[in-house]
Amino acid sequence: MTACATRWTRKTAEETIMSLLQVKNLGVQFKTNDGLVYAVNGVNFELDRGQTLGIVGESGSGKSQTVLATMGLLAKNGRTTGQALYEGQDLLAMSPKQLNRIRGDRISMIFQDPMTALNPYLTVERQMTEVLELHKGMSRKDARKRSVELLDAVKIPEAARRVTMYPHEFSGGMRQRVMIAMALLCEPELLIADEPTTALDVTVQAQILTLLKELQRDFGTAIIMITHDLGVVAGLCDDVMVMYGGRVMEHGNAQQIFYHPTHPYTVGLLGALPRLDHEGDELVSIPGNPPNMANLPKGCPFSERCTLASEQCASVLPALQPSVRDATQLRACHRPETEIKVMQQKEVVHG
Ligand SMILES: Nc1ncnc2c1ncn2[C@@H]1O[C@H](COP(=O)(O)OP(=O)(O)OP(=O)(O)O)[C@@H](O)[C@H]1O
Ligand SMILES: [Mg+2]
Repeated sequence: MTACATRWTRKTAEETIMSLLQVKNLGVQFKTNDGLVYAVNGVNFELDRGQTLGIVGESGSGKSQTVLATMGLLAKNGRTTGQALYEGQDLLAMSPKQLNRIRGDRISMIFQDPMTALNPYLTVERQMTEVLELHKGMSRKDARKRSVELLDAVKIPEAARRVTMYPHEFSGGMRQRVMIAMALLCEPELLIADEPTTALDVTVQAQILTLLKELQRDFGTAIIMITHDLGVVAGLCDDVMVMYGGRVMEHGNAQQIFYHPTHPYTVGLLGALPRLDHEGDELVSIPGNPPNMANLPKGCPFSERCTLASEQCASVLPALQPSVRDATQLRACHRPETEIKVMQQKEVVHG
């Protein structure tokens, strides 16, 4: 068994039985002219009902492909390996018909660009009522009432009037709210949000995040929030999974990741976070570029940019293993945790 095949998750076997989604040893490879691109490698995670997981990492780290593969939405040149158990049933082994039913009724996705999910030629009302009539068998009248209720829930002012408008008649932030309302039509158990606030200004971004938190509280929806910005997950997520080079570098609860990071990459991401108490300071971005996914280093994918990297880091892939300080936090790093602590303290002093 190679190091990367060693599987750790953050739950005991007993807790695992209750999981809504259990992703096991997920891999995604793309066939390209330059050879195979290893976009996702040996990813494991679990999500309970009503729980929020943040998947964080720089561009190209494999965040989107992790969830797209789980939902059976990979590009044609992609291949998925592993398992994605939704209440014990493997999404990756389902027929397109079974998968469509689950995706329509129980899992919803929202993306950065709301126009990918909204039809510009139909009023919001028509788009929403159509889904309810089709999936829930509602009458047009009931469907209209429900649509207005949901637009109200996502805080669209004068929802009853605005429901008759076309998507382009809404501002960017409002359109994002409409998309969230659409995603909630079938009361999904799981909402996957892929950079839903990246294109929005900071104030609107904060409003949308507050909204997601409220919706989760009121509807009990589990959420997977994908973002390159650790700040976005700070107030929203229970658990945070940090990805780099298609691998999980660190996985813990928000408290652990923010206050006790155990991976140099996480420390780097935290350094790139704006801090209210350090207004005007320059943000420390991580020097260097993400790796070429068609030609990943033999060892740790982050070794080329890591200031703590040793010979071992460049040649041996570190397994994801429990942290010494707290076994519920997982880390894939050869360097001792004391070194990362020192690195973090320096970051805090200079950050
Ligand atoms: N169809 C494809 N063919 C080849 N490579 C692909 C394809 N789709 C994605 N990739 C590669 O897979 C890797 C992971 O992509 P992914 O979209 O998951 O990144 P991400 O973490 O979501 O980044 P971003 O923050 O930019 O959205 C990238 O290197 C990307 O170039
Ligand atoms: Mg992405």
